[in-house]
Amino acid sequence: MATAGKTQSGGVCVILLLVCVLNSCQSLLYRAETSKRQLVVQLNPGTNSTPPGGDLLHVRAVGDNDTLHFLFCSQGAPTLLIVHTNSSSSTVKVNWPQFLARNSSGSLTVEPQSSILYSTAVVFTRLWEYDDVNDTAKPTSSLDFYPPYRLQDFTWSRLRLSGPVAELCGAGPTFTNGSVCLQLSVFDSDGRAESWPRLLHSGNSSQVQVWLDGVSPQSPNSRFLLELEAVGGVYPLSRVDVRRSIDDEFTPSIFQVSQWVSSANGSSDVRSFVQWKPVAYRQPHPALEDATPCRYSQPQLQSGNTTTASSGLIQAFYNDPEVTGLNVSFGIAGEPFYNSTKYLSWTLVVGVGSPPVDSFSPLVLTIMTVGLGAPMVLLLLGGVFLCLHKRREASSTTYEPIN
Ligand SMILES: *[C@@H]1O[C@H](CO)[C@@H](O)[C@H](O)[C@H]1NC(C)=O
Ligand SMILES: *[C@@H]1O[C@H](CO)[C@@H](O)[C@H](O)[C@H]1NC(C)=O
Ligand SMILES: *[C@@H]1O[C@H](CO)[C@@H](O)[C@H](O)[C@H]1NC(C)=O
Ligand SMILES: *[C@@H]1O[C@H](CO)[C@@H](O)[C@H](O)[C@H]1NC(C)=O
Ligand SMILES: *[C@@H]1O[C@H](CO)[C@@H](O)[C@H](O)[C@H]1NC(C)=O
Ligand SMILES: *[C@@H]1O[C@H](CO)[C@@H](O)[C@H](O)[C@H]1NC(C)=O
Ligand SMILES: *[C@@H]1O[C@H](CO)[C@@H](O)[C@H](O)[C@H]1NC(C)=O
Ligand SMILES: *[C@@H]1O[C@H](CO)[C@@H](O)[C@H](O)[C@H]1NC(C)=O
Ligand SMILES: *[C@@H]1O[C@H](CO)[C@@H](O)[C@H](O)[C@H]1NC(C)=O
Ligand SMILES: *[C@@H]1O[C@H](CO)[C@@H](O)[C@H](O)[C@H]1NC(C)=O
Repeated sequence: MATAGKTQSGGVCVILLLVCVLNSCQSLLYRAETSKRQLVVQLNPGTNSTPPGGDLLHVRAVGDNDTLHFLFCSQGAPTLLIVHTNSSSSTVKVNWPQFLARNSSGSLTVEPQSSILYSTAVVFTRLWEYDDVNDTAKPTSSLDFYPPYRLQDFTWSRLRLSGPVAELCGAGPTFTNGSVCLQLSVFDSDGRAESWPRLLHSGNSSQVQVWLDGVSPQSPNSRFLLELEAVGGVYPLSRVDVRRSIDDEFTPSIFQVSQWVSSANGSSDVRSFVQWKPVAYRQPHPALEDATPCRYSQPQLQSGNTTTASSGLIQAFYNDPEVTGLNVSFGIAGEPFYNSTKYLSWTLVVGVGSPPVDSFSPLVLTIMTVGLGAPMVLLLLGGVFLCLHKRREASSTTYEPIN
């Protein structure tokens, strides 16, 4: 009995040791992979005056041999543009008179042009509202919708900057005291956001949180949809993949992540992405009961001219772009309506390269290792112990008579 106890505690020690080694290996690998980008934040580059119609934010994220230019602008519909270059000295040039006229392409350029590897943009185009009288969360025809709020027609505040974080709020015609706000965060390295849904990010991506605060709904049973459009260089964002997980440690009750990706001729080589978890929150400081599921519609080809007309940044940088769009709808049948809290918040990550992948957290890894590993180790040790015991018995019976 005493020996069995010793074997067991020996086994547990071995497992704990293994877990520690695994964990430190993981963090070592993680550290080796990560090289920090240097962030330089500039508001309205190249001009000292406040441009009428909205600010332009430029964040240069300089890596060892490349630069990512994050551009965020509220001239028209709020737009995030990411340009990846293969040089650590590429720059953004804005011809302000042309940029503000918003009638020609090429008023915002990244120099040298030959260094551009890839560009991608997301435009927040429209907010749709419908009256969900029967609580089905399924508008059957477009007639069920109220006229959409076109975000390009909103009055947008100036950008409020705090390091590499910028916040923008706007109000529509019937919003009374309500507003739609966007917060852009750019990162210098890998990490995970502090607030739910705690999305992963890297130095190659940025996070946008969108929230509707205090908007007066047109019906007590109103629900909302947000329309996004994506503009890509050669390969537009064409399909949404859903990745499932068994781990909801960081986003309680959510076991999925959706990613809207671009791919070269249907291959798995992803050039840029928009990633989100299918959850929105009905409170600024959410608890689990404030989570509400979201759904998305399949990406559709959009008219490039309409998008170009809606966004000053798209007009300035792209020439006749290819555009795809989708809707994200908040709430499902049986969930409280917007009216219940008059607040909705949803978060997405936009970046170039492959989307971040949630690996198992150390806690889950430890549980799995102990859960699966302990019985194996015990079996093994038990076997060895039995063998040794038998051998000793055998040898003692063989040699004892001689002694
Ligand atoms: C950057 O380029 C230099 C030479 O051009 C090369 O030695 C170095 O390995 C590159 N660094 C990375 C991280 O690719
Ligand atoms: C753009 O608008 C400005 C003034 O509004 C005008 O002078 C200019 O010719 C226009 N350019 C194009 C390409 O239409
Ligand atoms: C990358 O950099 C090299 C030299 O700086 C340049 O010749 C090349 O055209 C650049 N662009 C791409 C897309 O590789
Ligand atoms: C709601 O339900 C009523 C009764 O079932 C039906 O007549 C009506 O058409 C429904 N309205 C919508 C918008 O589905
Ligand atoms: C809007 O705000 C004002 C002042 O803060 C307040 O008096 C008014 O009741 C608000 N209106 C609505 C519809 O909430
Ligand atoms: C970011 O992009 C660079 C250049 O393409 C790549 O070397 C690096 O591995 C990427 N980092 C992440 C976290 O994807
Ligand atoms: C991708 O498709 C385009 C035309 O649709 C073709 O020109 C190109 O060669 C294809 N590239 C690959 C790698 O298959
Ligand atoms: C889009 O605009 C371009 C030039 O501005 C024009 O040649 C083209 O016909 C337009 N396309 C559509 C579908 O209106
Ligand atoms: C979003 O939903 C509205 C209402 O059904 C529809 O008119 C619009 O075309 C949708 N947008 C996209 C990009 O699917
Ligand atoms: C929902 O809206 C109606 C009328 O607009 C209002 O009377 C009701 O109090 C609202 N409900 C909540 C929970 O705010």
